[in-house]
Amino acid sequence: MKPQVVFVLGGPGAGKGTQCSKIVESYNYTHLSAGDLLRAERAREGSEFGQLIGNYIKEGKIVPVEITINLLKKAMEETMQKDEKKFRFLIDGFPRNEDNLQGWNNVMDGKADVKFVLFFDCGNEVCIDRCLERGKNSGRTDDNRESLEKRIQTYLQSTQPIIKLYEKHGKVRTVDASRSVDKVSKYVTKDDGDILGF
Ligand code: ADP
Ligand code: C5P
Ligand code: MG
Repeated sequence: MKPQVVFVLGGPGAGKGTQCSKIVESYNYTHLSAGDLLRAERAREGSEFGQLIGNYIKEGKIVPVEITINLLKKAMEETMQKDEKKFRFLIDGFPRNEDNLQGWNNVMDGKADVKFVLFFDCGNEVCIDRCLERGKNSGRTDDNRESLEKRIQTYLQSTQPIIKLYEKHGKVRTVDASRSVDKVSKYVTKDDGDILGF
């Protein structure tokens, strides 16, 4: 079975990870966060990319796709090898720029079906406040004001155009992510809104 993919996008702190965890509780989807995979690779002993990834993350820049696509592909393959019924994926935080999108098309075109983009729409101020709050405990090198300003710029300059591109093709499902976790979750899942349409 070909992997079925939903790309999950939105600003830093929009709630992508939080909502993906909730979706996974109710639906047979596997959540893969590009950011989490990159952080794991950064921490992996012997990784030749550790330092590069660390620098990119702190600067709020997007890591070259050759690194990210390999991590995603490997994670998808491992999931499907363990259980062939697990062919549905929420890919969170990808594609974040033109380079990401090209890399996906080069490596995954024809090998996976992208169903749509799930877009968590949230104002920049709310995004920053949430990340600063998360930063009190997250231990993340990029949940501070200096990195966040750069991450927001990257989001506006590089990620928004990707969302607009998918929008032109009618492939974006938008969620108002400024509401409470429960309200957003109810809208995303079947209870109310049924935006995933399963
Ligand atoms: P992302 O993966 O989009 O960066 P997260 O899911 O990690 O965002 O959420 C960022 C922070 O905001 C976390 O501390 C999370 O607990 C909190 N959060 C997530 N969704 C909401 C929400 N709807 N309202 C308030 N806080 C939220
Ligand atoms: O999605 P998340 O907030 O975890 O991403 C953290 C950082 O990881 C991004 O700011 C970026 O530096 C890096 N990243 C990336 N390419 C992606 C996803 C994340 O370079 N596709
Ligand atoms: Mg996240």
